[in-house]
Amino acid sequence: MLRTLKKTARRFLRQHRALKAREAGGAGAMLLERLLQDNPRFHMQDGSLTNSWSIQPDTLRYIYGLLPPEAKTVETGCGQSTVVFAIAGARHTCVMPDAGEAERVRQYCVRLGVANNVNFVIASSDKALPDVARIPSDLDFVLIDGAHGFPAPIIDWHYTAPKLKVGGVLAVDDYRMPSVHTLHSFLCGEDEWELMMVLQNTSFFRKLQEPKSLVDWRGQKINVDYPGY
Ligand SMILES: C[S@@+](CC[C@H](N)C(=O)[O-])C[C@H]1O[C@@H](n2cnc3c(N)ncnc32)[C@H](O)[C@@H]1O
Repeated sequence: MLRTLKKTARRFLRQHRALKAREAGGAGAMLLERLLQDNPRFHMQDGSLTNSWSIQPDTLRYIYGLLPPEAKTVETGCGQSTVVFAIAGARHTCVMPDAGEAERVRQYCVRLGVANNVNFVIASSDKALPDVARIPSDLDFVLIDGAHGFPAPIIDWHYTAPKLKVGGVLAVDDYRMPSVHTLHSFLCGEDEWELMMVLQNTSFFRKLQEPKSLVDWRGQKINVDYPGY
């Protein structure tokens, strides 16, 4: 009993110190600014590396600020956002099919002196996310920014939403794109999600309750105008 109490107190102190360091513009905040300044190119487009797919700097800063110490996190897609999770010390799982991107992110983290705390799952998210053993649960944060073709963002949400804690945050990037906007507007209407923030190209939702079962359509606000609701 005493040992458990001491362990809890130590963990609390560690988290408290990490938060204070972050507030005071500690090492993590400096590394984040260095990343934004470097603006590294991780993605291959038409035979050359680009950084134009990266999440916007202020949105990356916002994501960093939302991550609790030792956050448990999952993202679909990879890039500068992955480095942000690494800098924040998250226990992070990154799902995407391009091993080259993972390697470039890994090497950049080494150059920054950031600990290797990212678990890369090199596979398309629609194949990897249903594999319960590969994707952790009890998540604090989920970022959906992988394949953008319909219905990929919805598939990503479908498999990650139940693994997000109540109170956890779901970020949907490129929410204005029609294939992504379907998910964004569905979440805006439902009781289980609260729109926290829209920043640049990304919308942020807090999970308020477990999602409803897929078995029935009644109770889902998306169907409110349908006869028999
Ligand atoms: C817009 S970029 C992500 C940008 C990243 N969040 C950043 O801040 O740099 C889209 C990502 O989705 C990945 N991707 C493409 N197809 C995918 C799939 N089927 N499953 C998961 N990720 C995929 C790409 O490899 C790329 O990393």
